[in-house]
Amino acid sequence: MYNPSFKGDVCSHRHAIFLDNFIRRLFQNPKKIAGPYINPGDTVLDLGCGPGYFSIDMAKMAGTGGRVFSVDLQEEMLSRVVQKSVQNRLTGIITPHRCTQENIGLGPEIKADFILAYYMVHETLDHGKFLSQVRALMKPEGRFLMVEPLFHVSRKKFEQIVKTAMDTGFILKDRPPGKGGRSVLLGI
Ligand SMILES: C[S@@+](CC[C@H](N)C(=O)[O-])C[C@H]1O[C@@H](n2cnc3c(N)ncnc32)[C@H](O)[C@@H]1O
Repeated sequence: MYNPSFKGDVCSHRHAIFLDNFIRRLFQNPKKIAGPYINPGDTVLDLGCGPGYFSIDMAKMAGTGGRVFSVDLQEEMLSRVVQKSVQNRLTGIITPHRCTQENIGLGPEIKADFILAYYMVHETLDHGKFLSQVRALMKPEGRFLMVEPLFHVSRKKFEQIVKTAMDTGFILKDRPPGKGGRSVLLGI
């Protein structure tokens, strides 16, 4: 069940249909958005994965030697990811992981080549705390792509989030265009 006691503004699983449909595929192609940063065999994190719109394609890109951790607060979102993993025969690559609003909760043994946070950082309660947890999950040469929606997150708010990321030790690598929102590529 969606937990209405989540603090802040969390996109309900009841909106999952808007996050995974053929129309979105026309405008936000996962291969164009995440493809340039993923190689076969990579470890990938999809933070705030929702119904797994990006997880499925990223698992195909990472291939049988790779791993994708699909992370979300909501069990209902993760159930959809599991369902699609089975349909696409990707259960050996995708690991669903339920986190809390305070903690991502992935072990220190997991270090990612690529981390995606698509339309989700503005929903986190404490951006600084969240981003420092993200940083700890990255390989030294890893990349973190953060994309925020134009309609929900003003330029000013986005720049505040980017500054918070830099304050936690991220380095700005790129401002890639064509990612479907306000975008930044970060490294450590
Ligand atoms: C607008 S949806 C985007 C889903 C997905 N990234 C996509 O683009 O299709 C935001 C998602 O982030 C999740 N979320 C919000 N706060 C979170 C947090 N602190 N940790 C993990 N997931 C979170 C919500 O449950 C929701 O599924």
